[in-house]
Amino acid sequence: MAKPVSIEVWNPNGKYRVVSTKSMPGTRWINLLIEQDCRLEICTEKKTILSVEDIIALIGDKCDGVIGQLTEDWGETLFAALSKAGGKAFSNMAVGYNNVDVNAANKYGVAVGNTPGVLTETTAELAASLSLAAARRIVEADEFMRAGLYDGWLPHLFVGNLLKGQTVGVIGAGRIGSAYARMMVEGFKMNLIYFDLYQSTRLEKFVTAYGQFLKANGEQPVTWKRASSMSEVLQEADVISLHPVLDKTTYHLINKESLATMKKEAILINCSRGPVVDEVALVEHLKQNPMFRVGLDVFEDEPYMKPGLGEMKNAIVVPHIASASKWTREGMATLAALNVLGKIKGYPVWHDPNRVEPFLNENAPPPAASPSIVNAKALGLPVSKL
Ligand code: DGY
Repeated sequence: MAKPVSIEVWNPNGKYRVVSTKSMPGTRWINLLIEQDCRLEICTEKKTILSVEDIIALIGDKCDGVIGQLTEDWGETLFAALSKAGGKAFSNMAVGYNNVDVNAANKYGVAVGNTPGVLTETTAELAASLSLAAARRIVEADEFMRAGLYDGWLPHLFVGNLLKGQTVGVIGAGRIGSAYARMMVEGFKMNLIYFDLYQSTRLEKFVTAYGQFLKANGEQPVTWKRASSMSEVLQEADVISLHPVLDKTTYHLINKESLATMKKEAILINCSRGPVVDEVALVEHLKQNPMFRVGLDVFEDEPYMKPGLGEMKNAIVVPHIASASKWTREGMATLAALNVLGKIKGYPVWHDPNRVEPFLNENAPPPAASPSIVNAKALGLPVSKL
């Protein structure tokens, strides 16, 4: 028998039982659920990652919906348990859902929600921050200063790379990749090379117009190029940011061979998913190429780093915080709660998961819809006409 899991209960007499496996930022998500007759149980266990057994204990005998986290293994066992408890709704508090077996959810008729549309700029800003920090060696310089090693200005002290006029490479020019590309092009006057299966016409138009603006003002215009392969981006760019989804085609996209094709002084940023990079090969490459730098928000075996990575001066490592701005995390909590609530209430699915602003307006009730259900089609759920 699994050990009981500690919880905090809101609105004990609510008709629908909703479980959140973690406490989440803000209070709007809580109020939205309890105002709609939900009894909300928030897990208060101290441990960071809940096991499948812990979540089964949380689901119990009767549960209408669960809000879960990207660290949890939502597969056959959990969807079977949720369905047995009468549940028809699950939402990840994340835009990515590689921790969720959507086929298993389909089998049990459970709707799977995610939280797009609120992470774009926040995540792109962290990728840009890591790019700058790596280019200008901010973390190394900060450590040096705090260690009391600074004894005067020197011509060679922490010399890094100038971004202006260099080429930024983006692999995966979807929402986040495009926002990052715009920041780097507009903010630092970098040229763009990108790879995506789909042409990013808006991004191309933006860079063209900005280039014309610079030219009209007597400055060097920025340029763009759509690469025909990922390797073209790796070979040509000075700063490369990875924004693909994690699947079989992108697993270990960055490996010993592809690293060898990159410039010796290139900067590699990863705010997508850890397994896109072969971390063992990366550590070796960092050792062999001290001027090659990385900024990593995600890791192959989170929460762990591969041996040696933490000791590398040319690596900046942060703990999966790309979406960690207050506005974004509160928005993610709201969208996840509304995904679950919408399914419980029998609402249709919102017509455009990229345009979720109406759900975030604190001064008006949210639309009667689930903001983003990834398996809506497979489950034949109706689409909102609002
Ligand atoms: C997501 O939502 O997929 C992010 O990785 C969370 O930061």
